[in-house]
Amino acid sequence: MRPLVAKIDLDALRHNYRLACECAPHSQSVAVIKADAYGHGAVECARALEGLAPALAVACIEEALTLRHAGIQAPIVLLEGIFEASELALVDEHRLWMAVHTDWQLEALLAFTPRQPIPVWLKVDSGMHRLGFSPQRAEQVWQVLSQAPQVTALHLMSHFASADAEDAGYLQQQMTTLQALAERLNAPCVWPTRPLPWPILLPMVAGTAQASCCMAAIHWRCQTPYRAS
Ligand SMILES: Cc1ncc(COP(=O)(O)O)c(C=O)c1O
Repeated sequence: MRPLVAKIDLDALRHNYRLACECAPHSQSVAVIKADAYGHGAVECARALEGLAPALAVACIEEALTLRHAGIQAPIVLLEGIFEASELALVDEHRLWMAVHTDWQLEALLAFTPRQPIPVWLKVDSGMHRLGFSPQRAEQVWQVLSQAPQVTALHLMSHFASADAEDAGYLQQQMTTLQALAERLNAPCVWPTRPLPWPILLPMVAGTAQASCCMAAIHWRCQTPYRAS
């Protein structure tokens, strides 16, 4: 067998996270550790960020349960929400936060009675065209979710297609679309105070009783946290 080992430097990971947070001092930054933390080991990275990252984000319920079964108790956002209505019971049991980006997820949530209201992130497609409601539909869904007893700590979320590109043109377009929606929804918005070193995190706005805007993390690349031997 090819004797290849990748050593992950978790201090570098913590360093990168702190560095990214410095870029958005008025925000909280969620660490996306989907896809086994992009191959860096989700459980190990989650443990390394415990007490540092206010929340973690993964793609799906299986990734979240892997973390919970490893004893990770930090808040976890399901970036793609549920894939079947039956997963709502697990979201409730494991106190997960979930994105809602399509009508069937909305209907399933409204037909469900959780033990406690669920923190929901309404995903709007501000231009990446991967997942999310159109800004117009998002405005309607927002009104529904903000009245729903199943929901608490409602956030607006959007995925940026090219936040790591030198040319910030498309990012600016997406931010403008998101900010306009946030203003129509009367959701507070805080933008990074200075350009971010490419590419790291985009900040998350602290949850308030009211709704808030957020953007999400991308990849760690500031300081390569691994050495091939
Ligand atoms: C809002 C948001 N940001 C970031 C990501 C991370 O995505 P990617 O791994 O494609 O960079 C996702 C993934 O679903 C997301 O929904």
